[in-house]
Amino acid sequence: MKTIFSGIQPSGSPTIGNYLGAIKQFVDLQHDHDCYFCIVDQHAITVPQDPKQLKENTRSLAALYIASGIDPNKATLFVQSDVSAHAELGWMLQSMTYMGELERMTQFKDKADGRSAVSSALFTYPTLMAADILLYQANIVPVGDDQTQHLEITRDIADRFNNRFGNTFTIPDIQIPQVGARVMSLQEPTKKMSKSDENVRGFISMLDTPKQMEKKVKSAVTDSDGVVAYDVENKPGVSNLLSLYAALTNQSIDASVAHFSDKRYGDFKGEVAEAVVETLNPIQERYNELIQSTELDDILTEGASKAENIANKTLLAAKDKMGLGK
Ligand code: TYM
Repeated sequence: MKTIFSGIQPSGSPTIGNYLGAIKQFVDLQHDHDCYFCIVDQHAITVPQDPKQLKENTRSLAALYIASGIDPNKATLFVQSDVSAHAELGWMLQSMTYMGELERMTQFKDKADGRSAVSSALFTYPTLMAADILLYQANIVPVGDDQTQHLEITRDIADRFNNRFGNTFTIPDIQIPQVGARVMSLQEPTKKMSKSDENVRGFISMLDTPKQMEKKVKSAVTDSDGVVAYDVENKPGVSNLLSLYAALTNQSIDASVAHFSDKRYGDFKGEVAEAVVETLNPIQERYNELIQSTELDDILTEGASKAENIANKTLLAAKDKMGLGK
């Protein structure tokens, strides 16, 4: 059975992009893989976080994973900082990673852009992400396409370690969904939809009310063509809504285009909004039950203990190979 690892930062309210690019894949994969799904709070602190808010976001993300269909009896769900091996291996891997490699990371360049104080953790972020994945000997990492570069550096670091110290880590493969791998902002459809966007109309949060979702889809930027066609370059807004619809209704882009071929933008947007609400409404109902329960804490405690068992084995092997410890 292949091993899967993936993580999401608790750095705001997850969006429909996080759902389609990541969580939806996780739910499908859990049935026939050994899955580890993580709330990567140590990644979140690479930019300033309010401590109380961070804890709330962590709990909320855990509830959203489960409400979306992650079954804690099938997959191991845990919080990164509850398993100290992540930070430890992350440090060790920093010694195997070159400044030049980290300087090339577009996520770092984007996040550091225009900021006066950039933490060194934001710079070394990819080595912690490599540690996350390598600790579990993951074969497959399901993510949205913005994580491609991070997966490439993870593979390079693992390969370098194995060559230098002997076979220690499995080299992971990336898995990106066919549709929904890059959901774009509703207001600037050439930009990725992001939970940290200052313009809240640009993203749909998984916890928005149906009214908010509808309003956001209906005010999404399109064009003056009036034709529902898929053309990312010339019609980015319409193409983004078509991708959203296709991913939410499990159809191909072609089938979605055919479905809307003689529809006006108003009707098109109405149906996209309906698909969004129909997907997120049941998730929210389960979320509201979970968030108030203690069940959540038990699941995370048990998840951390299962994860720790596996992670510590790999950590010990890696330490030994590097000559660390007595
Ligand atoms: P994060 O928290 O930004 O996003 C979590 C997951 O959601 C995907 N995603 C999207 N997919 C489609 N369209 C979008 N607009 C969109 N926005 C986000 C991301 O690709 C990701 O799969 N570095 C990671 C977190 C991480 C991780 C890991 C992932 C830390 N360690 C180990 C995998 C394995 C991140 O910042 O994701």
